[in-house]
Amino acid sequence: MTAIQDQGGVDAFLAGVATDLDDGVLPIRAFSSPELHQLELERVFAKSWVYVGHVTEIPNAGDYVLRYVGRDQFILARDEDGEIHLLFNSCMHRATAVCHAEKGNSSHFRCPYHGWIYKNNGDWNGAPHRVNAYPRTMDPQQWGLRKAPHVDTYHGLIFVNLDPDAISLTEYLGDMAWYLDVTFGLNPHGMRVVGDPHRWVAGANWKSGAENFGGDAYHVPHLHRSGEEVGVFPNVDAALSGQFHIAVDGGHSIVASRGFLPEPWVLGAWPPDVAAIFELDKLTSDQQEFVNNGWCATVFTIFPNLSILHVPGVYDAQSTPPVMMTALRQWQPRSHDKTEIWNWPLEWIDAPAEFNRLSYDAMITSFGPAGLFEQDDTVAWQGPAEVGTSVFARQTMKLNYQLGQGVPGGFGLVEDWKFPGVATTSVYDEHNQLRFWKHWQEKVSEK
Ligand code: FES
Ligand SMILES: [Fe+2]
Repeated sequence: MTAIQDQGGVDAFLAGVATDLDDGVLPIRAFSSPELHQLELERVFAKSWVYVGHVTEIPNAGDYVLRYVGRDQFILARDEDGEIHLLFNSCMHRATAVCHAEKGNSSHFRCPYHGWIYKNNGDWNGAPHRVNAYPRTMDPQQWGLRKAPHVDTYHGLIFVNLDPDAISLTEYLGDMAWYLDVTFGLNPHGMRVVGDPHRWVAGANWKSGAENFGGDAYHVPHLHRSGEEVGVFPNVDAALSGQFHIAVDGGHSIVASRGFLPEPWVLGAWPPDVAAIFELDKLTSDQQEFVNNGWCATVFTIFPNLSILHVPGVYDAQSTPPVMMTALRQWQPRSHDKTEIWNWPLEWIDAPAEFNRLSYDAMITSFGPAGLFEQDDTVAWQGPAEVGTSVFARQTMKLNYQLGQGVPGGFGLVEDWKFPGVATTSVYDEHNQLRFWKHWQEKVSEK
């Protein structure tokens, strides 16, 4: 383990982090540091494919919602031709926000300050007194809203990249796309959002949520035991038995499970009337094998800050059956020690309405601003955010990421894993978290 690098500059600190991660430790400063946070905005959020919404949030021409990349606010809009744009919500005259509604439908945005007008594809469309106030030579092409150079979708998930030189979304997702297929590609009509995303602010660093959802089944029987006791989670111990981790390149990571729910559920998780809507022949033979064996990508993180929750829950264990619930979750950085958490409940478009209702009810009792699990997690995640700025802690603390390492019969890799990525033999490990942090260290160090 290296000496603690609290006094050095950011470059020296990040170099030390790389060495520390090889030893399975992480200096607390990595979690909560204003200077590192600024670098993250520049080198991670402005250069990654970042999730901004679901296509079913803006189904019609003119629909728009306000969204964020890092801490910057954008308008996610569908133009009159049906094309999706991510427009920087800032007027080119004096930088006033041109859109103040969270969502709506409009062909144009008119700035409230002096009245410049923009089309919903971002083009400049005029200004009050234009003929008298601006020269004829004024080039409208120059004065449109700034916009993300890359917008793309995968299974209805809209991602953007602010870097003009970015690789394609498909390349960025890499093997994670395979696991999105076996999650969202079971039915050709896919899933849709249920209402607006829930959102609330937690006193946590965004990486606490991202690393937790990428590989921390270990905490579930401890932090969330009360969920089982009050009947909103069917079996907490199942969080460890039958589960394992999968890591794929690019900093993406997955908690996987096999056989969540027994017969009469089928494919490990679904009542027969829901499984009846699945068309597995749309998947590759390997993907069909994964699904038919009852495997499931359960909880995962797409680097940097999108997580997906795909687990069983129950609204009332006394009177309703456990059901799979699915949500997209985003860890929006607001500062080094504040995260706005967004939660989009999803439902299968073709599933029976009763299943979708039970699934939504189970979701809001366990996750979301009133969810029992959420309250557990966000209190625990305040620790690194607060302690990361402590002078004493920064001089004395490196966190332990050695779960399962060097334990006979403990942590190991599945040598004959035939599906994409690297799978572990159990969840008693922090392999995925280490890979997440190594990827973060590489990205935040890139100049
Ligand atoms: S700031 Fe928008 S028109 Fe002046
Ligand atoms: Fe949790």
